[in-house]
Amino acid sequence: MTNKKPTPVSAGLRTTAEQEEAGKNKSCFERNSSSWEQKMETFPKYVRRQNLTRFIALYEIFKRVLNVKGSIVECGVNHGFGVMTWAKLSAILEPVNLTRRIYGFDTFSGFPKIAEEDLSDHSAHVREGDLFADSYDEIMALTAIHDSTRFIGHVPKVELVRGDAVKTIPEFITSNPHVVVSLLFLDFDLYEPTKVALENFLPRMPKGAVIAFDELDNPLWPGETQAMLEFLKEHRFRLERCPFDPYIGFAVLD
Ligand SMILES: C[S@@+](CC[C@H](N)C(=O)[O-])C[C@H]1O[C@@H](n2cnc3c(N)ncnc32)[C@H](O)[C@@H]1O
Repeated sequence: MTNKKPTPVSAGLRTTAEQEEAGKNKSCFERNSSSWEQKMETFPKYVRRQNLTRFIALYEIFKRVLNVKGSIVECGVNHGFGVMTWAKLSAILEPVNLTRRIYGFDTFSGFPKIAEEDLSDHSAHVREGDLFADSYDEIMALTAIHDSTRFIGHVPKVELVRGDAVKTIPEFITSNPHVVVSLLFLDFDLYEPTKVALENFLPRMPKGAVIAFDELDNPLWPGETQAMLEFLKEHRFRLERCPFDPYIGFAVLD
């Protein structure tokens, strides 16, 4: 066993200054007497650099699939950063692409199960229920507001699938035999659902489609790497990254 303090599941590698940053930004936000709307319209003032980095990284990946047919599958929704980013980028960059849907899979109650493959000296403290986010209703409400102003907004863009993805993904495929996938964004963090997502969605992905992994080579999440390694036995691919983002690794299928 390592003697090092375990990395917390959420915001694990932040320095003390980084942990204090959001609270300091919040104080400035609250001291500003402008309207909420005016403050939100200047969001780069208040949003941490790392969150903007994430948004730009997703933009770079979205651009890779702009000309690839198929929907986007977000594996692990949590508070909805990814699904709402994909939905808004689609509305901005391809407003008439009414067949591209954003499907988000999550329990909306945190990790349902931890497998053996998810455990190592660095991750033994990961527990069922970690990364809990009861965000389903809020995301659907915000999606409806977004739909009310976007082009072709009467055709739904975001669909959330609640439950353990190990079960819901195969069920989803059975009841949606039309689905083609241009981007599979794997962010469950865990072995079993990542493996199930790869097995079920890969046959629906054309050449040029992108598989993105959020947690490869990360000591806290060995299960995601393990699922990727098993997948690699049959499918060799180049693993790319955005130079400014430490987390996401992605492969363009060829
Ligand atoms: C890192 S978060 C996802 C972050 C999200 N992509 C974003 O944009 O912020 C991981 C999520 O995966 C979900 N999750 C993990 N295992 C799951 C499973 N077997 N079925 C459904 N959801 C699961 C958790 O509930 C959690 O919300």
